[in-house]
Amino acid sequence: MKKCLGLNLCLVWSLSATLTLGATRAPVTNAKGLVASSSPIASEVGAQILRQGGTAADAAVAVGFALAVTWPSAGNIGGGGFALIHADGGPDRFIDYRETAPAAAGPDFYLNAKGELDASASRVGYRASGVPGTVAGLALLHKRWGKLPWKTLLEPARKLAESGFIVDQALAESLQHSQELLEGNAETRKIFFKKGHVIGRGERLIQKDLARSIAALERGPEAFYEGSVGKAIIADIQKNRGVLSAKDLSSYKVVEREPLRRKWRDFEVVTAPPPSSGGAVLLAILGMLEKDNLEAMGSGSADYVHLLTETMKKAFADRSTWFGDPTFVSNPIDKLLDPVYLAKRRSEISMTAAAHDIKPGELPGEKPDTTHFTIRDSHGMTISNTYTLNGSYGTGIVAKGTGILLNNEMDDFTSKIGASNMFGLTQGKRNLIAPGKRPLSSMTPTFVYRGKDLILALGAPGGPTIINSVAQTLLNRLVFHMDIQQAADAPRFHHQWMPDKLLYEPFGLNPDTKKALEARGQIFRDEARTFGDVEALAWDDELRLWTGASDSRNGGAVAAE
Ligand code: DON
Repeated sequence: MKKCLGLNLCLVWSLSATLTLGATRAPVTNAKGLVASSSPIASEVGAQILRQGGTAADAAVAVGFALAVTWPSAGNIGGGGFALIHADGGPDRFIDYRETAPAAAGPDFYLNAKGELDASASRVGYRASGVPGTVAGLALLHKRWGKLPWKTLLEPARKLAESGFIVDQALAESLQHSQELLEGNAETRKIFFKKGHVIGRGERLIQKDLARSIAALERGPEAFYEGSVGKAIIADIQKNRGVLSAKDLSSYKVVEREPLRRKWRDFEVVTAPPPSSGGAVLLAILGMLEKDNLEAMGSGSADYVHLLTETMKKAFADRSTWFGDPTFVSNPIDKLLDPVYLAKRRSEISMTAAAHDIKPGELPGEKPDTTHFTIRDSHGMTISNTYTLNGSYGTGIVAKGTGILLNNEMDDFTSKIGASNMFGLTQGKRNLIAPGKRPLSSMTPTFVYRGKDLILALGAPGGPTIINSVAQTLLNRLVFHMDIQQAADAPRFHHQWMPDKLLYEPFGLNPDTKKALEARGQIFRDEARTFGDVEALAWDDELRLWTGASDSRNGGAVAAE
């Protein structure tokens, strides 16, 4: 197997070894660039930009806009997100283009005079939207790391919106799942319904207004924050008693941050800082497992599932209390990731009994949607980007005449202490609403290094499950040596401290393992549920090539340059 008779033959042998290994398909490999996203059309748009000599940042802009057309439940112009960038000649950067609370919103924004919470107002309707950051975020990526003209990058998305494209199985299912929401707004209905039914598989989805908005944005990102597109959005919001104002839009700022960086075993993990909790919770989970012999336990064993579940509970308990937008509140990251603190948290875990009374450390449901894409160009620039409207299709409201869906990101704030948000997360004071503040996120775009070499880039959608999806995919790859497709496809589980329930995927745990876990006191959620699609790129030592995986859970694809 290792005796290569020449380079080509050696590669064929390695590839065929990978092909026969497991139950999932082989990863896509390429000596040049790779693009992994939830939409095959958008991935191909990105690969095309790389073939034209664009950088990974150019491709990220093109994919970001294309997904707003071809994967509208989460791909967006009216939402926000985070991008992690690895580029030659500089340390990795983190671009925070998360939405912000409008100036008129404060801690009582969703409470009535009696202090009662109107939970639906942060999820549906015109008061649920934060100030969108996507256009500003993609524009900064382009300005700092792009090479091709801005217009060239938006043109594929404009054409897809103008001429339409054929709806595939994944999009048809997504539209059908959200049809009630989409039907509720006349402007949205006009786009996604034909002759009284939601557009289905094999039909063409045309978005003329969106094409016109993208054409305006082709002249420059200012069209969104100060020009015609922004004006149309604000006019619609204000006509419908929303509070987002022209001033909110024009004062929106992207923030460039230091990513979190920690050693883990022989690796270094680089990941999302606040206002995402994702990176810190991921690092806390990994940190608690630093000294455990996970290899000996084995992937999917009762010991492994139990131990990982207990670390998830502890890390999510800390998430509930200690995190918020760092511009407004302190985030005691160093204390929460201190190896001594994490070793103590680990020592409290029993391997035979599940804990149900975990408190945040004393310091020294529904089908939601977000989307992740990972891109690497042939010069090594790599971008791991997660962005979102929050729920599937956000508020379900398309701002009149723009084709642009509005986010419902305000639901990620703590609307009332003790009340849970749409993901069942109960959150703390540090995440209360304030004008201009960014809501706490779980999005976790992540890189892993071995020495100086980047070897893994990944991320996922799924609200709080994002963190555990990234953790498990990373462990599958680094600890259990699965190829990147296997690592992404392997069944996962999720615990977020509250509610005290272990969630797993359909057929994701065999009945014996489940019984063994119940015997240790783990409480399962009644209904199994599929998690979000990991989109990942990984260096393969044997192939000596980068490999890419689009999780089989969704209809995405990896496209090669
Ligand atoms: O930022 C967050 O954590 C959420 N707004 C993400 C939402 C999400 O992932 C929904 N996805 N499937």
